[in-house]
This record gives sequence, C-alpha cells and structure tokens, in this order.
Amino acid sequence: MNNIILIGFMGCGKTTVGIKLSYKIKRTMVDTDKQIEREQGKSISDIFAESGEAAFREMETSYLQKMIHNTEKQIISVGGGLPIQERNHALLHELGKVVYLRATSDTIYERLKNDTTRPLLQGDNPKQKIEELMQKRAAIYEKVADVIIDVDGKSFDVIIDEIITEV
Ligand code: S3P
Repeated sequence: MNNIILIGFMGCGKTTVGIKLSYKIKRTMVDTDKQIEREQGKSISDIFAESGEAAFREMETSYLQKMIHNTEKQIISVGGGLPIQERNHALLHELGKVVYLRATSDTIYERLKNDTTRPLLQGDNPKQKIEELMQKRAAIYEKVADVIIDVDGKSFDVIIDEIITEV
C-alpha cells in the first residue's frame, strides 16, 4: 500500500522525522498515538492510568486494522510498543515499508530523562527502565524492519536523506 512506516523506541525521533519527511516528499503524515488520543479524547497517560496498557495495545491494533482500509502513500509513525505485538507484524507489512530508526539507550535516556508523557518510563530510575525495555525490544524491531537507519549523532536532514535512498 506504499506507505512508509516509522518504528523505533520512544524518543528515537519518529514523529519529528515523520513530519519533516512528509514536507520533503509531500506526503501526509499520520501518528498512531495522536490518532488514538483523538479517538479516545484523552492522553496516552490517561488511557494507561484509566484502562491499562493491555487496553491501549488493543486500541493500537484496532487502529492499524482501520488503516489497512484507508491509508495509502502516507508516512505512518507508530508508538514504540506497537511493533512488539506479534499480531501487528503482518498488518505493518501489509501497510508498507517498515523503517526502524535505531538509537542507543544512552541517546534515548538523554532525550527522555525529563519526559512526563511516557507512562512506561515514569517513576524511579528511567535509565534502567529504558535499558530493560530496549533489551527486550531491540531484536524485535530489527526483525520487523525492512530498513534500519542508525540515528545517533545524525541530523534530521541526514536521516531523512537516508530514508529516501533506502525506501
Ligand atoms: C510506548 C511508546 C509511546 C506510546 C506509549 C507506549 C511504548 O509512543 O505509544 O507511551 O510502549 O514504547 P512513542 O514511541 O511515540 O513515544
């Protein structure tokens, strides 16, 4: 369906890269987190607090299923945990080319150490939380990806040029 799907850990730059890429190649950009927040009328943090993570994961899969029917030639940025659910893999591949923005946990920590919007990283020791999650997820992101772009230390312009060359 010719979409470009950006996956990767929280804070790897999916949203910013997606927006800048959408300007550059003149495609619409859609962000699953933003769409779910809009549909539910509340923030991701409130969804996690009120309904729990499992309910959020169901919302992510439902949203992906919906996109199969109405999303073509767009740039899709998905929440960091969405590709971890095996049931989403075929849907992602049906939607288009999956691009993994790969960042190290040190980079993620530097970007997110003061973040209050990611429920999975709140509380004590966010660094440890990032490292543990990264350890569980890295191989899955790599397996799902059609293309892997290392983002550490690169400008957005360089990252975007690499994506355009690879997809
Ligand atoms: C999550 C990532 C978040 C958001 C939610 C859970 C995760 O999206 O979907 O907080 O499990 O990695 P971003 O990757 O856009 O931060």
